[in-house]
Amino acid sequence: MKVNRLFGGCLPAVYLSRGLQTKLRGNPYDKIEEKVIKKATLFLYLLKKEGVVINMCGIVGYIGTQDVKDILLNGLEKLEYRGYDSAGIAVVNENGVHIFKDKGRIAHLRTVVDETVLSTVGIGHTRWATHGAPNQRNSHPHQSSTGRFTIVHNGVIENELELRQEFLPNYKFISDTDTEVIAALIEHFVLEKEDVELAIRHVMSLLHGSYALGVIDAGNPDVLYAAKNKSPMLIGLGEGFNMIGSDAMAMLQCTNQFVEIEDEEFIKLTREGVTIYNLLGVPVKRSPFTAELDASDIEKGTYPHYMLKEIDEQPYVIRRIVEQYFEDGQIKMDQKIVDAVQSADRLYIIAAGTSMHAGFVGKQLFEQLAGIPTEVHISSEFVYNTPVISKNPLFIFISQSGETADSRAVLVKIKQLGYPSLTITNVPGSTLSREADHTLLLHAGPEIAVASTKAYTAQVAVQAVLAAKVAGKSDLDLSRELAIVANVMESITDHKEQYEEIAKEYLTQRNCFYIGRHVDYYVALEAALKLKEISYIQTEGFAAGELKHGTIALIEKGTPVIAIISQEAVNLNTRSNVKEVKARGANTVIISLRSLSSETDQIVIDDVHPLLTPLVTVVPTQLISYYAALQRDFDIDKPRNLAKSVTVE
Ligand code: M6R
Repeated sequence: MKVNRLFGGCLPAVYLSRGLQTKLRGNPYDKIEEKVIKKATLFLYLLKKEGVVINMCGIVGYIGTQDVKDILLNGLEKLEYRGYDSAGIAVVNENGVHIFKDKGRIAHLRTVVDETVLSTVGIGHTRWATHGAPNQRNSHPHQSSTGRFTIVHNGVIENELELRQEFLPNYKFISDTDTEVIAALIEHFVLEKEDVELAIRHVMSLLHGSYALGVIDAGNPDVLYAAKNKSPMLIGLGEGFNMIGSDAMAMLQCTNQFVEIEDEEFIKLTREGVTIYNLLGVPVKRSPFTAELDASDIEKGTYPHYMLKEIDEQPYVIRRIVEQYFEDGQIKMDQKIVDAVQSADRLYIIAAGTSMHAGFVGKQLFEQLAGIPTEVHISSEFVYNTPVISKNPLFIFISQSGETADSRAVLVKIKQLGYPSLTITNVPGSTLSREADHTLLLHAGPEIAVASTKAYTAQVAVQAVLAAKVAGKSDLDLSRELAIVANVMESITDHKEQYEEIAKEYLTQRNCFYIGRHVDYYVALEAALKLKEISYIQTEGFAAGELKHGTIALIEKGTPVIAIISQEAVNLNTRSNVKEVKARGANTVIISLRSLSSETDQIVIDDVHPLLTPLVTVVPTQLISYYAALQRDFDIDKPRNLAKSVTVE
């Protein structure tokens, strides 16, 4: 639990609609039209009005004894995955506050920072433009007019216009940001109240919207202030230093001791200690916790990409799930969750993308093992096209990040209808985890690559554990079967050359098909998503028997068709479908289980329990996608137009 609240709860990066995002990204920074930015800002405002929580940007802050510049820059690098277009740091020393900021990457920021400036207190920021174009002027940190207060901000202030009009009518703003309004307001109220802490808390009480703030006061450089509402932020504790960060990853270089911050809390950090206050200034006691992950969990190490590292981590994730959910061979799980599933007459799995594909496999598990009818729904469809719901439903939300807005919209709706809910997520502090009645954790460790790999297999494995627990006594020795799965996964990842070759030899066209029947069809869907999202090869996952009802018309000479065969009942049928496409010129690849394999199959995987085959058949498809993208020299961990957490509907 401790690990996950560190990274996932803080994963949400804020993105605009895909359309706007593409527009913004498609323009060189300088040429982005103000019109587009204004539109984007309005769009965000409307989303906020609709109650969509938007988080964005990344923050890190440090007060201690070491020179702060590298600590901030290294921390910001760990936040790059959130997406950003500009970055900056502010440090304070006896000569005052020094700000270094610009549009572009952290690597560029490093060249802008004056190495000769030494300081032990500072704040840093990665910005994804909302209010104003991504340029040097709008980059954070921002300052109040006298330069006394310097701040970084993650979030959106909805009432900035009203605040400007009411309190700052004649103020000369330098940037177009809502953040500068906060800096100006702090200074305004410090003059009025003559107390910095009181002034910041007063400003917090005036702000409508989301914010995680880091504040430096040039008048008191031995203190760092922070505040939070709806945007993610954690406190990091150390010997002689203390920190803030948008997530633990930004601070792991220095500490593994963290304290959570609740909404509407104000924090005062010195070198010696940290005090959390509520809005009224009453101190709040909260215990620290130790992160069970270390810096290497979020480092690529010798890996060229996070995706490859995360593919390789899957056997460990499966073993960790066994460790977490089994004791003396028996499944240990909160009885309330088991009761909730057992008393449901129907399960409704709600999810998006890869998580939905894991949900399809879950349906199979809940129905086969526990005999509970299960439906899987695309979360973005469910809200507006709600099916007839059974008498005693249980809603299961599957989400790596726990922040997906489409899924959250369903959760809000079903809560209004009074239905019970369970979230299966990698992130306990996440919105879906907090708002559902129950949570089951994936224990997959941070997943940084946008393309989900280990979260998928963890989602399938955790659903298997839940289904087996609900089923009660059965012949399935799940901990043993999962141990076999982990070993088989390892035997696949140990032979990567094979997948590199297949990607090179077969994925030569602009399109591709994955086909399968039964549960292999669900894996085909996931395999297709993985290939298309990082290699940009147009790929479809198809029920093998359905091809002949239309789609086979697309098969021509050289079209790659990859078939997955893991179920005895459909082995021969799928092979017939492979012959059909081959006869029409397709270049076919077969991924099969050893006991069902034929001599000519290109990828043969050792057998696992028939209900658990998606856990192993998916791994070659992940590797094929990885190598296809690598061969095309694409940005594998950050594919175009995509965000790790899709926090807008
Ligand atoms: O965080 P979630 O699991 O709720 O995210 C849902 C999808 O956006 C996600 O699975 C997406 O499809 C993956 N990036 C695909 O690899």
